[in-house]
Amino acid sequence: MISTTTALLGSLAVAGAASAAFSGNLNYASPSRRDVHAGLGIDVPLVSRRSVKRDGGGGAAAMPWKPEQLNFTHGVASGDPFPDSVILWTRIAPSAASDTSNVTVEGNVALYSHDTQTYIDANPHPVCVEWAVFTCGADGRAAADQAVVSSGKAYTTSDIDFTVKVEAGGLQPFTTYNYQFTVCGSDKKSALGRTKTAPTADADVEQVKLAVFSCSNYPSGYFNAYGNAARKDEHDYVVHLGDYIYEYKAGGERASAPPREIFTLYDYRTRHGQYRSDPDLQLLSQNWAWIPTWDDHEVSNNGYRDGSSGLNNTEESFIKSGGVSVDQRKMNAVRAYFEWLPIRQVDLDDNLRIWRSFQLGNLMDLVVLDTRNYDRSITSLDWNDEYIDLIRDDASRTLMGSHQENWFYNQLTKSQKRGATWRVIANQIIFSRIEESYGLSGDNWQGYTANRNRTLKHLYDNKINNNVFLAGDSHQNWVSDLAWLDEKPYDPVTGEGAIGVEFAGTAVSSTGVRGTLEYARKQAQYRVNNNTELQWQDGYYRGYFILAASHDRVEAKFYGSPSVASRNSWDLPLANFTVAAGGNKLDRPIGGGRVEAGYGKGLKTVPTNLTLNTETREWDVVGYNVMYLNTTAA
Ligand SMILES: [Fe+2]
Repeated sequence: MISTTTALLGSLAVAGAASAAFSGNLNYASPSRRDVHAGLGIDVPLVSRRSVKRDGGGGAAAMPWKPEQLNFTHGVASGDPFPDSVILWTRIAPSAASDTSNVTVEGNVALYSHDTQTYIDANPHPVCVEWAVFTCGADGRAAADQAVVSSGKAYTTSDIDFTVKVEAGGLQPFTTYNYQFTVCGSDKKSALGRTKTAPTADADVEQVKLAVFSCSNYPSGYFNAYGNAARKDEHDYVVHLGDYIYEYKAGGERASAPPREIFTLYDYRTRHGQYRSDPDLQLLSQNWAWIPTWDDHEVSNNGYRDGSSGLNNTEESFIKSGGVSVDQRKMNAVRAYFEWLPIRQVDLDDNLRIWRSFQLGNLMDLVVLDTRNYDRSITSLDWNDEYIDLIRDDASRTLMGSHQENWFYNQLTKSQKRGATWRVIANQIIFSRIEESYGLSGDNWQGYTANRNRTLKHLYDNKINNNVFLAGDSHQNWVSDLAWLDEKPYDPVTGEGAIGVEFAGTAVSSTGVRGTLEYARKQAQYRVNNNTELQWQDGYYRGYFILAASHDRVEAKFYGSPSVASRNSWDLPLANFTVAAGGNKLDRPIGGGRVEAGYGKGLKTVPTNLTLNTETREWDVVGYNVMYLNTTAA
C-alpha cells in the first residue's frame, strides 16, 4: 500500500497559517510537491504573497470573494480509501467554467511544472473552504448527533481551476462517514457526501463489494449505469477502469464541451467539468469512494508512452493538432485529471504514476494497473497493424514498463504471502486470448504476448491462486477462465487447469455492438465458439458489474442499461457468475446455466426483459429500440 503525508509544505514561513492551508489542498502539490522538488509543483509562497499584496497586507484570510458569489459547481467526491484516511474533493468557484489560462504549462518552465506565470491575469484571490468529516447514521444518512471526527481548512485559486482535494485523516477503518465543505466564515455548504474507509490489512473482513465501471462517453449516452448503481446502494467502493472521459469532438444532445477535440489544459479541464456536471456521475461520486485508473481516452485514443492514434509524434500530426506536441498534451491531460479526480498522488518522484494497490483486509488485494500511459511500447495506431503483427511476440514489448511490471509481480507474490484470499487486478484491457474475425487485437494484452506470458508464468510458477482480472476498454462483456493455452493444460468444459478468472465489463455508455439483440447474440456465439477460454459474451448492453468477494467465493453480477439514449432508471440483470475460493475457474454450470443476453458455453440465453426500475423499485418488462444518442447531430 502506498503512503502519503498530510503535513505538506507546513514549514513554509511566508504567510504562516495561510501557507499551511494552501498546502492542505493536495492539488497544489500535483503532480509534484514543490518542497521536495524545487521547480515542480505550484509555488505556494508565491500564491500566498500575491494574495497578501493584492489584499493590502490582509493575508489570504482576507477573502475578496463574497460567499454569495461562489458555488460548489461540480458536487463533491471522495476516493482512494485507506484504513485511517480518505481523499475528499470539491470545486468552489465564481463560475462553472474552467480557468481560461493555458500559460501554466507553456514557456520555459520545468517539466511538469505547475508554476504560474508571475502575477498572471489569473484571479489572485484565494477561496477558503473548511471541510469536516462526521459520524454517519446506520442508514448512511446524516446522523442527528453527528460528531466531527476530522476537519481542516484549505484554499484554492484559479491556478488549479478552483479544485479542492484534501486528505481527511484520523478516521476509523471500514467505517462509513459523512463529509461536507463550507465556505469559510459563511453558511454556504456543499452537498453532504458519504464515504467509507478501507479495512486494515489484517482485519478479518467478511465481504467487500465493488461496483466496476469503464468507458463513460458523455455524448454517446446517459450515465444510467452510474445512477442505477447509486440508487441500488449495494457496493462499498467504486472502481473505474478508465475512459472516464473521452477527448473527441461530438455533437448531439450531449455535445462535447469544448466543442472540439481537446489538446490544451483549458480543454481538458473543461471536458472534466462537463462530465462532472452529469447528475448520475455526481450522485455516484457524492456517496462512494472511487478507486479509478485511466485508460487511453483520458489523454488520447490508443495511446502509448510516445503517442496515440491521432497524434503520432510526427510533424504532420503536430500541425494538425494546432501545435500541441505529444508530451505537452499528455502533461495537460494528466494535470487536469489529478485536479478533477479524488485520487492520491502515489509517488512524488514519479508524476505519471497512477498504479497503486489497496489491501482490503485479509480478503483481497486490489492491484490497480496502468497498462496505458505510463510506459507502454508502441500500440496499434490504425496505420501500423501489419507492423504490430510482426512485433507482437517481441520479448521486449511491455504494457507497463519494467518498473511497474516488477512491482506488479511483487504485489501478487506479497499478497499470496500475507494470506489475502483474493487478488483482484484492476486493469484496463482484455487479458484473455480473444481472436476476432480480423485476428488478434494489437491494442490489448494480445499485442504484448511476452508481457502476458511473463504474467502467467509468475502466477503458475509461484502457485499464486484466486486471481480475478477486471477489464474495461472493449465496450462489451467478456467472462473467461484465466488460462495459459499452449503452455498449461486447460479444459474449457470443466475449467480445470485455469488459474483464475477474468471479468471484462461493458461500457457505461460508449458504443458496443450496433444492431439488434439477435445480431449481438450471433456475434457473441461466434466469439464464444472461436475462443477456448471465453465462457460468456454480450456486446449489446451498456452497464456495469458488481463484484462481491467473501472468503469462500467471488460473485460477479452483470447489469445492463436497455438504452442510454435517454436518462432512465431501468436496470436489467444480465448474468451472475460465481468463483469458488481455490477453484481458480468459473463455477459450472457457467452463469448458473441461464443468462438474459449474449451467448455462453453450455448455457441457455433466455431474454425476459424483466427489468428493475431503480427509482421506484418496481419490476417491469421493458424494451427500447434505440441504444445510443446520435452524436453526429448538430
Ligand atoms: Fe472506451
